[in-house]
Amino acid sequence: MKIYNIAVLITMMYFGAAESIWPFGPSPKENWIARLHKDMMTNYSRQALPIKNLDHNLTVHLGLSLNHIDIDDALQEMEINAWAVMSWTDDFINWDKSKYGNLDRLHFDPDEIWLPDISHYNSAKDSEVKPFGHIPVLAESSGQVYWFPPTLLRSKCDFNLRYWPSDKHTCVFRLGSWSHHGEQIDLQLVTNNGTTVMLENLIDNSRWALLNSTAKREVTDIEGHDTYVEITFTFTVQRQARTHATYITQSALAVVVIVLLSYALPLHRFFSRLVLHLVGISILTSCSFVLFSTLPYNGGPVPLVVRYYSGSLILATLSLLCTVFLSSRTCDGSTTTAMSSKLVGIVQATPGLRNVFVSTPTTSPYSQLDTELAEDSESLAGVSSVSPEAAEAQQNRNHKIHQIKKVINTLLFMMFFIAFIVDYMVLRSVAY
Ligand SMILES: *[C@@H]1O[C@H](CO)[C@@H](O)[C@H](O)[C@H]1NC(C)=O
Ligand SMILES: *[C@@H]1O[C@H](CO)[C@@H](O)[C@H](O)[C@H]1NC(C)=O
Ligand SMILES: *[C@@H]1O[C@H](CO)[C@@H](O)[C@H](O)[C@H]1NC(C)=O
Ligand SMILES: *[C@@H]1O[C@H](CO)[C@@H](O)[C@H](O)[C@H]1NC(C)=O
Repeated sequence: MKIYNIAVLITMMYFGAAESIWPFGPSPKENWIARLHKDMMTNYSRQALPIKNLDHNLTVHLGLSLNHIDIDDALQEMEINAWAVMSWTDDFINWDKSKYGNLDRLHFDPDEIWLPDISHYNSAKDSEVKPFGHIPVLAESSGQVYWFPPTLLRSKCDFNLRYWPSDKHTCVFRLGSWSHHGEQIDLQLVTNNGTTVMLENLIDNSRWALLNSTAKREVTDIEGHDTYVEITFTFTVQRQARTHATYITQSALAVVVIVLLSYALPLHRFFSRLVLHLVGISILTSCSFVLFSTLPYNGGPVPLVVRYYSGSLILATLSLLCTVFLSSRTCDGSTTTAMSSKLVGIVQATPGLRNVFVSTPTTSPYSQLDTELAEDSESLAGVSSVSPEAAEAQQNRNHKIHQIKKVINTLLFMMFFIAFIVDYMVLRSVAY
């Protein structure tokens, strides 16, 4: 017990006293750090460019390690959350390791030493060109200085919504020294295994996919003046809007099917045809409202999706008018007889079409309105059948009109089929 107590006491004494009795200067690293820091800061001016030979320029290497990318649709801005990667050589910060307890790295507060005044030239944030966080700077004994401040950069981009909801946007971030020209500070790209924009830390954004990221050094040489160096980072993103795309294409497909289906109904089922058209038109209208509320306000080219919906609305309305025209009893076809008889000939000569569209009238159950129509026409026929010849002529004429209407129906179907399908194909190619 006694021996144990003594051992503890001796240990405590030894370590407690170590600092003062260590024969080779300050022993724990803290003291070396304090001494080195003090020595480095004596006579150091953080205002002066850290180069001894002012005929040369200072090379600052710049890169970005991306963390997150986001897009503000309404403001047409891209925001990147990244770590800037910067390194340069400070001629006034270097030391002999052996004189400072083999200490080869030292941290400085960003207020203590010179930092390059890298700014974001095309920042979307008012008057905020100095975008870097206040974090320590790391210096090596050789004078190499590293600074990896976090940064939030926001740039304006020109959004083109033509291909919404699969639109791609490219935004540019121009970084460079705000007050030094190329003869003072030269910017170079950081290359880490061949890449300047590092994506190892990038968190996927479910709304935007990063397609391409590049960095380029650009030198503007103004004749008789100074050179200006800037690094241009370019990011291309594509909207990921599967939900929107599915909603848009599927409701569009529903409308196409509904409107085209109405042409397959027998001619006299005017009421059913009318209902199908109205359903189609109301789907289109409600989709257009949803589109309006989702689409960002934009003055650029009209999105193809909007073109598709307005085009379809026009087609469906035309189709509705044609249906009304075709099914109305006042249309006697007398004006179109000559041309229509030719059409009848053509359609009857094409077996496939005749089978599909010019089917014999069926005795399917009529809707209420259709029944009324049928009764009306029967009564009309009854009134006009004064003589058997006149009745036969009337019947022939009715039959002819019916055939002509069927041909027109077929032609309208084909016309709208082609128009809708072409329209829909364009939409699908846009939406996916
Ligand atoms: C700082 O400058 C003074 C005067 O120029 C000089 O005497 C002194 O040695 C310098 N100190 C260091 C640490 O360089
Ligand atoms: C910076 O200095 C290097 C070497 O002296 C030179 O090659 C380079 O062109 C300079 N950069 C600028 C922008 O003047
Ligand atoms: C550098 O890139 C090559 C191919 O581009 C890859 O095989 C290698 O693993 C990378 N090295 C590091 C350290 O990332
Ligand atoms: C990325 O953009 C650069 C410059 O615009 C281009 O040269 C390169 O082909 C693009 N890469 C891809 C994968 O799109």
